[in-house]
Amino acid sequence: MKPRYERPVLVRHGLGGANKFGALPGLRSMKTFEGIPVDELVRQYGSPLFLFSERILRDRYRELKDQLARRFANFTMAWSYKTNYLGAICKVFHQEGAWAEVVSGMELKKALRAGIPGRQILFNGPAKSAADLDLAFREGVRVHFDHLDEILLAEKTASALGIVPEVGIRVNISELPVPTWDRFGFNLESGRALEAVRRIVRRGKLDLRALHAHIGTFIQEPDAYRMAAKALGKFAITLEAEEGVRIDAIDLGGGFASHNTLHAQYLPGEEATPSFGQYVERIAAGFDEAYDGPEPPHLILETGRALVDDAAVLISTVLGNKRLLDGRRAVIVDAGVNILPTAWWYRHEIHPAQDFYGTAEPTVFFGPLCMNIDVVRDRIMFPPLQVGDRIVIGHVGAYNVTQWMQFITDRPNVVMVSSRGEHGLIRRAEDFETLLAQEEIPSWL
Ligand SMILES: Cc1ncc(COP(=O)(O)O)c(C=O)c1O
Repeated sequence: MKPRYERPVLVRHGLGGANKFGALPGLRSMKTFEGIPVDELVRQYGSPLFLFSERILRDRYRELKDQLARRFANFTMAWSYKTNYLGAICKVFHQEGAWAEVVSGMELKKALRAGIPGRQILFNGPAKSAADLDLAFREGVRVHFDHLDEILLAEKTASALGIVPEVGIRVNISELPVPTWDRFGFNLESGRALEAVRRIVRRGKLDLRALHAHIGTFIQEPDAYRMAAKALGKFAITLEAEEGVRIDAIDLGGGFASHNTLHAQYLPGEEATPSFGQYVERIAAGFDEAYDGPEPPHLILETGRALVDDAAVLISTVLGNKRLLDGRRAVIVDAGVNILPTAWWYRHEIHPAQDFYGTAEPTVFFGPLCMNIDVVRDRIMFPPLQVGDRIVIGHVGAYNVTQWMQFITDRPNVVMVSSRGEHGLIRRAEDFETLLAQEEIPSWL
């Protein structure tokens, strides 16, 4: 094949040109996804296009489950719906044995509609309505409380139903090597969690069974989980001894890092992210420190991004090139931050989807929005691209297809690829009719 012509350029050597190992960050073309040519998938489903690998979803789930099975006799993984609640994604995890973890009435209905029994649904989140609580209690869902007003509402709702449901409280812990998310739940060290427990016990309208702590997200320090497991374990033992409460489940939430790379991170996620084994070993160490003798309660994890992020890529097409005043090459692609909000957090990995030629230069990838903050990647060494070329953006499975916005463009197709080479839509692209369907023009206009 005749090589493409490339105009000569002078490239100023700058930050990011070489890393501490002295070489340009590795760049490879990704012409296929799970063995299927990217071109073929784009021809069928259009661009931009989210692609999920069923194999990676199952592999990641099984990897964490295997690690847990080595250390715990009694554990459950509950799929964090908010991370990605597309029905097909949830189905894969439920087929693997996951319960559902939901944080709103909408998510609760979605899990029930998918046929998940109420006793396998955990209901977190800071904003549960009376109707949400009524539905949850009728279905036997375990609700974890965030604040006192919610407990009051739950007591009323349960009394009206004539039941004393099993519930949990969410606890936040100050003494951890991560910022305290004290806006969620009741603080442990200040005594507020104990106050909440005493209140529940005194009124006798709810049966407290679970302690829950989601200590943060993308936590790269596994020892934080040892400390959280130990703190909740000790708290559970105290509650049993002093309040007569029998805690049968400790839920450590989510928060494990995926293989993405945060903007402020030096080493790439592929190298820096702890393994599932490291996290699990630290949780087990924390329980060992707390439970000197009695069996620890049922361990629940609500891992989200670490299970789904690495299973998806976003394919995007080059619309144009330009040169910025600071010398950077700029490429405009058809996927913007409205469908990839995680670009604000991560230096997403990007690969060309075809053979590449020419000199790699510092390049900025802009999306198609008429908005200055529409930056998919602000600086990456990249070879020249031509209009119509494609790029593959990696680790996009978590939070994007739930947090995406319908802003001046339609949301695109989402496809799952099986390990046997099958592929199919798991969410249809929106179109002009979708845009108009929800709108009303009031009669006086
Ligand atoms: C209560 C709760 N559990 C689980 C998760 C999943 O967290 P992650 O995606 O960091 O694993 C979240 C996400 O914020 C959460 O709020």
